[in-house]
Amino acid sequence: MNTQVDKKSITLARLFQEGKITLKEISDITGANEQEIQGMFLNKGLIKTRSILVAGGAGFIGSNFIHHILEKYPNYEIVNYDKLTYAGNLDNLKNVEKDPRYTFIQGDIADLETVEKISKEHNVVAIVNFAAETHVGRSVMYRVDEFVRTNVLGTHSLLEATKRNEGQVKIFIQISTDETYGTLSLEDTHKFTEDTGFAPNVPYAAAKGGGDLMCRAYHRSYDVPVIVTHCSNNYGPYQHPEKLIPNAMFRALRNQPITLHGGGHHVRDWIYVSDHCEAIDLILHKGKPGEVYNIGSDNEKSTLEIANIILAILGKPESLVTLVPDRPGNDLRYSIDTTKIKSELAWEPRQSFEEGMQKTIQWYRHNIDWVERIREKDKDFSKYI
Ligand SMILES: NC(=O)c1ccc[n+]([C@@H]2O[C@H](COP(=O)([O-])OP(=O)(O)OC[C@H]3O[C@@H](n4cnc5c(N)ncnc54)[C@H](O)[C@@H]3O)[C@@H](O)[C@H]2O)c1
Repeated sequence: MNTQVDKKSITLARLFQEGKITLKEISDITGANEQEIQGMFLNKGLIKTRSILVAGGAGFIGSNFIHHILEKYPNYEIVNYDKLTYAGNLDNLKNVEKDPRYTFIQGDIADLETVEKISKEHNVVAIVNFAAETHVGRSVMYRVDEFVRTNVLGTHSLLEATKRNEGQVKIFIQISTDETYGTLSLEDTHKFTEDTGFAPNVPYAAAKGGGDLMCRAYHRSYDVPVIVTHCSNNYGPYQHPEKLIPNAMFRALRNQPITLHGGGHHVRDWIYVSDHCEAIDLILHKGKPGEVYNIGSDNEKSTLEIANIILAILGKPESLVTLVPDRPGNDLRYSIDTTKIKSELAWEPRQSFEEGMQKTIQWYRHNIDWVERIREKDKDFSKYI
């Protein structure tokens, strides 16, 4: 390799390390294949390994994010720290469990001493926190204390560990939800922006908001480099069947009724999970500490529309929809403004809803045993739907 090529390699490796260029793009520029480039970067010490603590990585979005990072960044190591509640599922990560860059540790984010120790031992430079109690129905009808413990106190202990490890963690991403902003009417023309105040109506959203506010305070008071993201409803592979889309698919496939609350009029914005993972990836590399970013897909649909789309794809009758009384505190509509992430970080969702739903339905059809195993393990889950 001549000097010219070496200089070019160094520049490309630096851009790659900073997340500004992908292996595929380097391959297009140089003509070498992606594996060769990766091997050369690592062998020549042009890129350093980076260790990311993914909290709650055994859940739906966390496991999709781990797949995304390990596929895209050969030099990243993932420490998946997860309590394995009813929602945590190591089946989601079967195909990476032997990857030397992946480590699983079972534990609670509210356990500050352990979180601090793991961060130090694994030389963690970034934290992405997906760990949460996430099911709105459970938060309304079951135990609010679990939501407060994980979503508020757990977030606090991750922040405190970051603060104690004094500058070792360069970036902390808190994955939050549009539900903290409260509700809109069907006629409202404005959307939630990053400046919209918190107005949660269910314990889940209130507990997420508590964790988010703690992030803000830790940034302002202690300069902890934390970013909060508020995303709309995700769908895609590995989502627990307590949630609307996988539950409706599973029931429709078995010709069982799909129950919808309050007339099925509740409107949510739906984003394919890989688009959310790409947004987090971008924020991880280019986001500004102390900032808040909304993430969404401009794809608002009522729960009735969602159920009917699933029934149409599966060739099942609309008569399977059964309307039941509304759940307490159920927000009528969320609508999220994503101007900031689009203009500041040049992010765009890539997946159309039609294609995303087709892919999702295919995935659940091929992985019906994955759903069955969850139902077997957690017989109570349908109580809160
Ligand atoms: N699913 C969505 O549509 C959506 C939308 C916006 C934001 N979010 C947020 O994204 C994050 C991930 O959501 P999800 O749908 O993947 O959730 P999920 O319920 O599928 O997974 C949550 C994971 O957190 C783990 N966990 C729970 N309590 C823990 C604790 N105390 N310590 C360590 N691990 C713990 C669980 O075992 C599970 O693996 C959550 O913070 C949620 O608020 C979700």
